[in-house]
Amino acid sequence: MESPEKETDRIGEEFDADACDFCDRYKRRGLSKSSRLLLDFILNEGAQDKTVVDLGCGAGGFSVELLKKGAASAIGVDLSPKMVEAAGELVRVSGFENRAKFQVGNAAEAELPPSDIVIIDKVLCCYSNWRPLLKNAIDAGRAMVGFIVPRDQGLAKWPFRIGVRVVNFFQKRRGKIMFYLHPLDVLDRTLQDSGFTQQKSQGSRLWLVFLYTRPPTTRA
Ligand SMILES: C[S@@+](CC[C@H](N)C(=O)[O-])C[C@H]1O[C@@H](n2cnc3c(N)ncnc32)[C@H](O)[C@@H]1O
Repeated sequence: MESPEKETDRIGEEFDADACDFCDRYKRRGLSKSSRLLLDFILNEGAQDKTVVDLGCGAGGFSVELLKKGAASAIGVDLSPKMVEAAGELVRVSGFENRAKFQVGNAAEAELPPSDIVIIDKVLCCYSNWRPLLKNAIDAGRAMVGFIVPRDQGLAKWPFRIGVRVVNFFQKRRGKIMFYLHPLDVLDRTLQDSGFTQQKSQGSRLWLVFLYTRPPTTRA
């Protein structure tokens, strides 16, 4: 098994190569279908004047959408310097540079300010060590934690698991990042043990979208 440093370097390098594609796709088509679902879940709860942390922010599209809807500020963390650069450029051209900050770092270790909304959009599936990442999100998340993971549930579960095994076989041979299907029941329990309740969940073709919330009395 590779060292944690090697894994984070590999993720950073691989997503550096994708940064332009992510940014162009967002500029052409906006958020992906699954991200739009999560955005709707969050907007239903209310984003006005809320502070946001976007873990594995990529090119920053999700943060920008929340800022457009009145979020007070957004902080993004990503292992890919090129993604962080692209996110910085996106908030600049969108006119939100005073309300957003993006930084290179490991979301599992970064120091995060307490924030109303924490997003983990298609990030857990790229990273082996989900526990500290989710713990960091829970510790920072005052009211909402929203995340998107592969559709490892229901009828899609076995085709997905087999597909991921096949893909990982080739990814490993090519020295590329691996994909992870982390145990959804343990993720759920971890959030529930911290006072969060699953508020909404919905599947898209490839992804599962979850929003957890916690009431004011149990917030840190
Ligand atoms: C599939 S992309 C999703 C990007 C963005 N959230 C979106 O939906 O457009 C995964 C992103 O997570 C980042 N990432 C993966 N593991 C991470 C970690 N432990 N800490 C910070 N960023 C991470 C990658 O660098 C990449 O930019």
